[in-house]
Amino acid sequence: MLPFTVYVTRPIPAEGIELLRQSIQTVEVRKEEDPPTKEELVHRIKGVDALLCLLTDRIDLDVIEAGRRLRVIANYAVGYDNIDVEAATRKGVMVTNTPGVLTETTADMAWCLLMAVARRVVEADSYVRRGQFKRWEPMLLLGSDVYGKTLGIVGMGRIGRAVARRAMGFGMKILYYSPRRAYEVEKETGARYVDLPTLLKNADFVTLHTPLTAATRHMIGSEELEMMKPTSYLINTSRGAVVDEAALVKALKKGLIAGAALDVYENEPKLSEGLAELSNVVLTPHIGSASRETRTRMALMAAQNIVSALSGERPPNLVNPEVLAKGQGSGRGRTDS
Ligand code: GLV
Ligand code: GLV
Repeated sequence: MLPFTVYVTRPIPAEGIELLRQSIQTVEVRKEEDPPTKEELVHRIKGVDALLCLLTDRIDLDVIEAGRRLRVIANYAVGYDNIDVEAATRKGVMVTNTPGVLTETTADMAWCLLMAVARRVVEADSYVRRGQFKRWEPMLLLGSDVYGKTLGIVGMGRIGRAVARRAMGFGMKILYYSPRRAYEVEKETGARYVDLPTLLKNADFVTLHTPLTAATRHMIGSEELEMMKPTSYLINTSRGAVVDEAALVKALKKGLIAGAALDVYENEPKLSEGLAELSNVVLTPHIGSASRETRTRMALMAAQNIVSALSGERPPNLVNPEVLAKGQGSGRGRTDS
């Protein structure tokens, strides 16, 4: 048994908790469904060696500094924009995420949203439920074709690639924009690398798969939305703040684009004013990775990262390897100035 304490900020699939309990002496799981307040986090982190947190937990400098014994922060997500990684690195704290295991599940969700908004599935469902379905009609709930259209993928990482592969089955032409060329994907799917304006001007569906960073915040704003075709759709399963949400609401109202399907929001769980009133949007509550299988895999992965880190090994999904280069790593060895 490793003589350490792990704090888990919310109940996660039991397999992950069991894995922690097999190797670590004290595993505390916070029971409440609401995210902890900052005060609670600062207070709770004091005697803790490892933190397993969610993307809704803001792990800032104050929290990291309060964690005097903290060695590792394991995020239960692939994105880690909720954590001040730079501060963690300075303090010698490892940060880990859960890449790979949610790739296909999130790609499925992007497609689910794309199809739903194109063929007006949500509107159609409520039409039937409200008892409005009287007869087959030539002009009832007309949407857009998906097959044979042009897909624009912004961010060709793991998830972007998984989305591109699915597009082949729909006979789609693929354009992509990404910080790096993805030559294998080009070969495999025929995807063509273009700049962002070219992608926005030509795609029938624009789907976002970038992490949220200073460079991608509001990457899609009013100027970009203006470039899109009036018949096109925006799909976002990445992070809400990649899109200027207020600008999106305006664009949708003005008909600059045909519709949007969003799983993520700029200020979750709040929605920008007017968004929920629009009929040409499909809105889901950040469930991109929410399959039973994947959430279990994420729990195991986050737990394994903690066990490895506390065992003095390099955790498999370390996002700040500089922390080990500095010779601090698992020993924390704080050199506070
Ligand atoms: C979910 O949004 C994740 O980053 O895993
Ligand atoms: C995340 O897993 C990505 O690289 O898209």
